[in-house]
Amino acid sequence: MEMPNDSIEKIHAEVINCKSCDLCKSRTNAVPGDGDSKASIMFIGEAPGRNEDEKGRPFVGMAGKILDETLTKVGVIRSRVYITNVVKCRPPGNRVPTEEERRTCKNYLEREISIISPKIICILGRTAYQSLLGGSSILGNRGKFIQKDNRLYFLTVHPAAIIYNNKLRKVLEEDMETLVKECRRLQTSI
Ligand code: URA
Ligand code: SF4
Repeated sequence: MEMPNDSIEKIHAEVINCKSCDLCKSRTNAVPGDGDSKASIMFIGEAPGRNEDEKGRPFVGMAGKILDETLTKVGVIRSRVYITNVVKCRPPGNRVPTEEERRTCKNYLEREISIISPKIICILGRTAYQSLLGGSSILGNRGKFIQKDNRLYFLTVHPAAIIYNNKLRKVLEEDMETLVKECRRLQTSI
């Protein structure tokens, strides 16, 4: 539930100074979410990578470039959506964040979701799928919508997966088309 005096600015300020888990020791910058706090669509990735850690902004490296290209292709303006991660600090060597790190950081993500209250939460890849919905196979479920606890989720592959398997680019594009169509159907502006 949204706390009366909570705000995205407040969350961002807390994230930037957060020392609640050990990832604070190895990070350069914590990476708060980014974008429109009144967005209809919220994207959730895994964790910052090297570029994000250097710049303090999500999805600004290779995966970000792929995400941007895909959004452009389906006619979505990046600054009109909200983009965040399951954990806000870079795990050393880009390892997958541990259960404990995810659990510790979850309060920020939950508050971001409550405040923004997006029409659709787009899950990017396995870590976010696991963390938010307890799922495992993203390839087996991508392209699907899931309604849970009064929230509407949409599942797709992580843009970074395309760096290793270019065939997934089509999959991501197809899914983003589906997402945009659903937004239109819901008469939601993006
Ligand atoms: N991968 C993610 O999951 N998040 C980012 O911000 C960048 C790469
Ligand atoms: Fe805090 Fe999350 Fe960073 Fe851990 S990953 S230090 S909980 S902001």
